[in-house]
Amino acid sequence: MAVRHFLTLNDLSPEELDQLMQRAIELKALHKARQPEPQFPNYVLGMVFEKASTRTRISFEAGMAHFGGHAMFLSPRDTQLGRGEPVEDSARVISSMCDIVMIRTFEHSIIERFAANSSVPVINALTDDFHPCQLLADIQTFIEHRGSIKGKQVAWIGDGNNMCQSYINAACQFDFTLKIACPEGHEPRADLLEQAGDRVEVLRDPAAAAKGSDLLVTDVWASMGQEDEKAERRRALAGYQINRALLDCANPDALYMHCLPAKRGEEISADLMDDPKSVIWDEAENRLHAQKALIEFLLTH
Ligand code: CP
Ligand code: NVA
Repeated sequence: MAVRHFLTLNDLSPEELDQLMQRAIELKALHKARQPEPQFPNYVLGMVFEKASTRTRISFEAGMAHFGGHAMFLSPRDTQLGRGEPVEDSARVISSMCDIVMIRTFEHSIIERFAANSSVPVINALTDDFHPCQLLADIQTFIEHRGSIKGKQVAWIGDGNNMCQSYINAACQFDFTLKIACPEGHEPRADLLEQAGDRVEVLRDPAAAAKGSDLLVTDVWASMGQEDEKAERRRALAGYQINRALLDCANPDALYMHCLPAKRGEEISADLMDDPKSVIWDEAENRLHAQKALIEFLLTH
């Protein structure tokens, strides 16, 4: 049987993704009630982090502990990956000793090369192009608060980055409409927009994107690896903040999400972090539950 990977949301079918969301909600309930959880004793998750992380590391590590397994943090600073050992060689070795691997890295092609040489499932824990694990948590959060996201309208406000590009995949896989408001030069990849067709539209005006939307989402203007572009990005994206006025353009029961970490006063006004319409803290916690469902799925398929 071919090994299943999770490099983008497209690696699971829409039906599998729907089931995964239901399972995430079930696992969350089990965990909260301190009921017995699925066990994968002695299973080892290798965690390769080439970029910083709070939520991703903690959620994967805690999830493996709940499953009775183990998670191993591997940083390029103290593995041979950082000294130039080829990705292909590393994949063969790491996957010969771990049961599942997650990777946070730069170019998306790195994780594709790793997966092509891995004998165990590989999970994308963020690349420059995609952040599919975050989308699992976001969709779970929407379902918990508002029910199915099918047929709804989502507005992405800001940079056309890895999160935005995973939202494009999500629009296709979970069947919703996506309005992206971004300035010229900060659009998501043209091939992704083309694949998505009419369900995804790029606009320049944030208010036009927010109008009729059931969910507003944003992310930092300078992602990890773009630290040198901060000033230019601050100028280009200045009109793309989610604030009270923009939230008022959306549907009355619209929710607001941000994958975090957030830069208050830039992509989000400080007052919105704890607004009743903000579900960002549930969204962060759901990284744990959604990824537990994902690990269980990959270890059993
Ligand atoms: N949202 C997210 O991936 O957070 P971390 O960078 O803290 O893992
Ligand atoms: N777009 C951000 C997401 C962080 C979770 C980044 O890549 O840095």
